[in-house]
Amino acid sequence: MKKHNFSAGPCILPQEVFKEASQAVLDFNNSGLSILEISHRSKDFVDVMEEARSLALELLGLEGKGYKALFLQGGASTQFLMTAYNLLQSKAGYLNTGAWSDKAVKEAKKFGEVIEVASSKDANFNFIPKKLNIPTDLDYLHLTSNNTIYGTQLKDFPTTDIPLVCDMSSDIFSRQLDFSKFSLIYAGAQKNMGPAGTTLVVIKEDILGKIERDIPSMLDYQVHISKASMFNTPPVYPVYVSMLTLRWLKQLGGISAIEELNEKKANLIYSEIDVNPLFKGFAAKEDRSYMNATFTLVNEDLKETFDAMWKEAGINGINGHRSIGGYRASMYNALSLESVAALVDIMGDLERKA
Ligand SMILES: Cc1ncc(COP(=O)(O)O)c(C=O)c1O
Repeated sequence: MKKHNFSAGPCILPQEVFKEASQAVLDFNNSGLSILEISHRSKDFVDVMEEARSLALELLGLEGKGYKALFLQGGASTQFLMTAYNLLQSKAGYLNTGAWSDKAVKEAKKFGEVIEVASSKDANFNFIPKKLNIPTDLDYLHLTSNNTIYGTQLKDFPTTDIPLVCDMSSDIFSRQLDFSKFSLIYAGAQKNMGPAGTTLVVIKEDILGKIERDIPSMLDYQVHISKASMFNTPPVYPVYVSMLTLRWLKQLGGISAIEELNEKKANLIYSEIDVNPLFKGFAAKEDRSYMNATFTLVNEDLKETFDAMWKEAGINGINGHRSIGGYRASMYNALSLESVAALVDIMGDLERKA
């Protein structure tokens, strides 16, 4: 039986993508070769890379606006340092909204002065600070659009002339935004886009080349741009599966179509958390994430019963992150409304039973 997969990442991808991707392992494009055994310089793969790069820009509405898309390696964690390496000349601002942005701050400090424009660390990151103190002389301002661990999400983005850099690892392609507000967006593939192993970086080219530092080639965005994301052997299979997922999203109607479904899923689970007296939400209501819903049991004595019930119902991956405990239902693009309904049913059953 296929599980209802609420895993936080790596996570659920569309079934159609799994089918096509598994076929390509056996015979890619009727070539008599597996996608795993062809050269990354072969025309078949160069076409995949080009389609993935252009689909990413198209879906984000950034085609023809001076942006380049790259599929790199090293996870979003490498972007914590690569952004600073390429953009931080003297001073950068960071909005600290979770463990991931905290790590980004730590890396950036190796390259220059870092100002935390606001932080919710003292409240275990259960809300998004709204009053930002943004100095005017920053090289860039770094944000994390969705805080995967805590289930908070930025609803509004600062209006400023300072270039915005955003870690969108856990909500990219899930909601419509004016993506041209951002000078650099990065996202590990392993949530809404594909398997682990590649990271999408979307850069407005005119922000590059402004710093004096000598950058090692593998960490230099300009090198990757000049080589069309093929400076070294790219992660062929993760890029291919990401391309299939982006094709799937385009066929579905793009970001605005999936956003509608994501809103329905989020509304369904948050209404249950709010009406069911056995559960309590973790994140501040106005900052609740549409991707990761975090909640706890009011009475921990019910944990064993609840855990047995959801496991019995074929639900997977709702244990909360160890730093906050409780539960986390990750509802990425490929998760169906039916899966969320299955979880909500179990939460209701627990109430009727208790
Ligand atoms: C928002 C966010 N940023 C960064 C990361 C780190 O990504 P990676 O493991 O690809 O380095 C994660 C991982 O879950 C994340 O959720």
